[in-house]
Amino acid sequence: MKIGICGVGTVGASLISLIKKNQDEIGRKLEDEIVIHQVALRRENPQCDLTGINITNDIYEVAKNPNIDVLVELIGGTEDAKDLVLLAVKNKKHVVTANKALIAMHGSEIFSAARQMGVCVLFEAAVAGGIPIIKSIREGLVGNIISRIAGILNGTSNFILSEMASKKQPRAFDEVLKEAQKKGYAEADPSFDVNGIDAAHKIVILAMIGFGIKVQFEAVQIEGISEICLEDISLIDEFGFSLKPLAVAFRISDGISLRVYPAMIEKEKVFSKVDGVTNAVLVEGCSVGETLYVGPGAGGDATASSVISDLVHLSRGTNIPNEGFFDLNEAPTIEDSSIDTASYVRLDVKNITGVMASIASVLKKNGIGIESIIQREVSETIARIAIITSIVNEKVLDESLRQLDELLAVISAPTKIRIFKS
Ligand code: HSE
Repeated sequence: MKIGICGVGTVGASLISLIKKNQDEIGRKLEDEIVIHQVALRRENPQCDLTGINITNDIYEVAKNPNIDVLVELIGGTEDAKDLVLLAVKNKKHVVTANKALIAMHGSEIFSAARQMGVCVLFEAAVAGGIPIIKSIREGLVGNIISRIAGILNGTSNFILSEMASKKQPRAFDEVLKEAQKKGYAEADPSFDVNGIDAAHKIVILAMIGFGIKVQFEAVQIEGISEICLEDISLIDEFGFSLKPLAVAFRISDGISLRVYPAMIEKEKVFSKVDGVTNAVLVEGCSVGETLYVGPGAGGDATASSVISDLVHLSRGTNIPNEGFFDLNEAPTIEDSSIDTASYVRLDVKNITGVMASIASVLKKNGIGIESIIQREVSETIARIAIITSIVNEKVLDESLRQLDELLAVISAPTKIRIFKS
């Protein structure tokens, strides 16, 4: 099987080195040998040994090369990557990609073109790095009606929140983000990581496979982690929770709800212990119940491991069922859902008597109970109040927060973080 690799960044370099290093082991499991026939790169990567490989600077040359069976797309981004993949498909090449943005934004068009040409587009590496979650849902859980998928799907955000929560040496957001970039975890534009867009791309892909719906990126309700401060993390810890960047897809009355948000998880739960760049995915199926998958979510070698799994899959035969998302009926409605949840609410207030009573009165008026409360003195004139609310509909809580914000003693807009029950 002759492959052409487009893009030799972190993942491309790892892929080339892994194919060379593990050639014998991979060969044992293959029907065919994987031969890197051509590599296209737009920038040199000094960490990558390309000795003996045919190199071009033109990615489209690979898509047109008649000797290549599979194009591996690792250039990232959506516009050039889409043109490249469509050209490869038009030239009857299978495609393996790690590009979640591409699949989340243009998956329907790409799969439809692939079906017409009778080729496969595989994307195991696009979600949760080294965890084989696509194959687990598509193959392992194929007999189930999936009711819920929830995951820590962005390694960079999880790394940042874990380091900010470190007991030994909590570090500030910007400093940890820089380290994640240096380690090759973050996207070329790291705002995709911290603003929740990368996780949204991934949950859309998992929802497409799990629920059989068309890719609908615009339906995801997205909140990132960039507003989280060390003080919130410390209070959340004191309440007995960890803070995790979560992406969730679940069935509601007549559709699927898709959300990305930072969520509090009780410390004894498994998700709570998933730290650093590690990802975790919970998939709930009607027959199997809850299943959990944990592993490295970013980084060159972990992602390359998933690219190789797709290559091996192709070498064993190309009759791979893509129809799970080719022949979809009308996609279910995805509404702007509002869920019932307990939440953390933090308010900075004037340090004067009677403030707590006014806060409690607003919450009570809206039918919201206070489960626990922590009060800290910030200065002689400012106090910080953190509350865990009872379970309440989000819209009711949001309206109460608006009312709290109007109280004269409240200094800045209240912060809200939801609690996730697994
Ligand atoms: N930037 C992504 C992450 C890389 O941090 O999870 C893997 O998709």
